[in-house]
Amino acid sequence: MKHNDLISILRSCAPYVHAHHGRVFVIAFGGEAAQRPEFERLVHDIALLHSLGVKLVLVHGARPQVDERLAARDLVSEYVEGLRVTDRATLECVKDAIGSVRMEIEARLSTSLASTPMGGARIKVATGNWITAKPVGVRQGVDLQYTGEVRRVDVGTIRANLEAGRVALLSPIGYSPTGEIFNLRAEDVATATAAALAADKLIFLTPTDPTKWKLAASAGDVGQMSVPEAERLLAERGDKMSSEDRGCLGSVVAAGRGGVKRVHLIHQGADGALLRELYTRDGAGLFFFADSDYETTRPATIEDIGGIMALIQPLEASGALVPRPREQLEQDLANFQVMVRDGAVIACSALFPFPEAHMGELACVAVHPDYRGSGRAAVLLKRIESEARRQGLKKLFSLTTHAPHWFIERGFVQARLDDLPMRRQSIYNFQRNSLVLLKGL
Ligand SMILES: CC(C)(COP(=O)(O)OP(=O)(O)OC[C@H]1O[C@@H](n2cnc3c(N)ncnc32)[C@H](O)[C@@H]1OP(=O)(O)O)[C@@H](O)C(=O)NCCC(=O)NCCS
Repeated sequence: MKHNDLISILRSCAPYVHAHHGRVFVIAFGGEAAQRPEFERLVHDIALLHSLGVKLVLVHGARPQVDERLAARDLVSEYVEGLRVTDRATLECVKDAIGSVRMEIEARLSTSLASTPMGGARIKVATGNWITAKPVGVRQGVDLQYTGEVRRVDVGTIRANLEAGRVALLSPIGYSPTGEIFNLRAEDVATATAAALAADKLIFLTPTDPTKWKLAASAGDVGQMSVPEAERLLAERGDKMSSEDRGCLGSVVAAGRGGVKRVHLIHQGADGALLRELYTRDGAGLFFFADSDYETTRPATIEDIGGIMALIQPLEASGALVPRPREQLEQDLANFQVMVRDGAVIACSALFPFPEAHMGELACVAVHPDYRGSGRAAVLLKRIESEARRQGLKKLFSLTTHAPHWFIERGFVQARLDDLPMRRQSIYNFQRNSLVLLKGL
């Protein structure tokens, strides 16, 4: 790979690195993931997320491992409403299988050979009795015995572990105040934990490619759907769906209702899909968003600096925008509005008031190339105009080298340098020779 390729890749990931740093992600995967040859690479990617400052809660399943143990003892499970009936003998298999899968995962996460991507990772894993469970009880006349459901999640202890820099590992098992052990669905543990923690993301690593599922057709080319849409789909077509689609959609809806803002379904077998989904614009799986602030326009905060820099630096390099060193950006931050999509800054603009002349400068209007042509700059202009009016300003001006017509088509007219406030004239850059555009408010 050429150096320039690497540098541009790192730069394009930067807004996502900033956006995800310090966030809580719950990642759930079935027991089959731990049996696949790609599992090692998946663990490397999980380790990388940890190194990039993501607070991770991992929830593993153990269904195939339980089945293997049952088969070895000639036991066959009965299922009611999709739930395994866990009698005492089955519970022994569950305990055995979960213990073994958990140790396998811990061992992989402990690898730190310098010759692997885990070199220097030093991941500390924490596990514990963090899930309180209760029995599901009797369904369709059948007592499900040691099959349980989540009653409570020990949020305080999980959070304390995450704050201490540990990866929290949860198994699909819970304990009751009466000292019993219950067999749980890993999906339910993940959903309940993500909701209780108010996690930023819940990620299901699925055994098959979710973008090829029937349900993906409803998510369109971009592979995205709002949780209310998912809920509608489940209500209207749930009975015609495969159990995979229905089960996953059910978890998505439960997570969304529980307050989790973003749920991703990603194929566990596709190399690097987790990283592509989280650190590139295109993503790699199906994405469900619960909030309307998946894309919002708001005043910039200090956390947006990295994202703004990543957005405007290529435009500065091409001469479309005036270079703004980081310190200046920090100083001027209160003047900036940003448009944020899934945590990444995709557009920005700024208003610099000149109250002595009743004028304001509209500056640094930039929209990420992937998101141009959908009226985003026009939305930002409207916001800046109303903010300028609120501040009692009468005119808005802009200096541009690359986009005069964009402004003219939005009511600006070409003006002269001496139409600008004196304070602005004195710092006009004659080398850039920008055109002056003016609009009455
Ligand atoms: C100019 C810019 C902010 C427009 O963003 P945007 O979100 O695509 O804008 P909108 O969707 O509101 O408007 C798109 C329309 O403007 C047009 N447009 C975009 N750039 C233009 C330009 N330089 N000159 C004339 N028209 C332009 C598009 O063709 C489109 O029109 P159409 O729908 O009739 O084809 C964006 O192209 C950008 O970031 N450019 C680089 C930075 C820059 O030059 N900023 C201005 C200086 S402060």
